[in-house]
This record gives sequence, C-alpha cells and structure tokens, in this order.
Amino acid sequence: MVKLDPIAEFREDHRKVRDGLLELMEALQSKNVVKARKILDGINVLVGPHFRYEEETLYPALRVLLGEYVDQLLKEHDGVIATARSCAGLLKKDGLTDEEAKQAAAAARTLLIHVSNCDGLSILSERLSKKEIDNLSEKLAAARKAGVPLLDWAETIRGK
Ligand SMILES: [Fe+2]
Repeated sequence: MVKLDPIAEFREDHRKVRDGLLELMEALQSKNVVKARKILDGINVLVGPHFRYEEETLYPALRVLLGEYVDQLLKEHDGVIATARSCAGLLKKDGLTDEEAKQAAAAARTLLIHVSNCDGLSILSERLSKKEIDNLSEKLAAARKAGVPLLDWAETIRGK
C-alpha cells in the first residue's frame, strides 16, 4: 500500500471542511434545512477521523514543539464538538426561525475559524522526524479506515 502524505492529507481535509462550512453557511442563510443537514452530515463523517487522529497522534507528537498550547487545542475541540452537536440538534427540525438560522450560521463560522487555526499546525508538523511522520501517516490511515464520525466518536471513544 502506498503511504499517504500525512501533512498533505491533513491540509486537504481542511480544504474540504472549509468548502463544506462555506456551503453550510449559505444553506443556513437561505434556510434550506434539508441541504444544510446533508452538508453537516458530510462534515461529521469527514472530520471524525481527522479529530481522532489529531487527538490520538498529532497533538501528542506536537507537544514537544507546542508545550501546553496542546491543552488549549484540546479545549478548542471541546468547543467545536459542542457547536457541531448543537448545530446538528437545530437541523433535526423541519424549519428554522430567522434567529436559529443566524445562530447556526454563526456557529458554522466559529468552526471555519477553527479550520483556519488548525491548518497552521502543518508548518510545525513538517519539522517532525521521518519516523514520526511515518507514524502520522500510519495513524491517519488507521483513523480513516475506522471511519467513526465526529459526534459518534465524541460520544463513545472520546467520551466527552
Ligand atoms: Fe484539523
């Protein structure tokens, strides 16, 4: 099997999530709940393995460079998960009020900011050793293979 490039794949995930979130914001602004729900489902599936990989492998590897900032990254994930959960809850309804649509679009924007911040980790990952990068590659592939969506992972394996 060809080894995946963990940094390139990591950034490619961010591009996909960025585009998904922009689409989600558009769907929310036009109060198209069915479309918004579909987009959020897709993001949930895509970012589950990504978050898992970050928390189980990438963040611990970056601790040597980032120190305690890693704890802040983990806390940021708590916030992202809570936001995704409340967004998914809102989108279970058949329609949204103006206020709810606004609230959900604002939530999507905070997720977009997280994507932008997270992508900055790529530049640091490049400084890890070949052995560590090989490990990142293996673990990202494994997280993808397991394919646990974000909210399922948060509820079960992550446990918060
Ligand atoms: Fe990320």
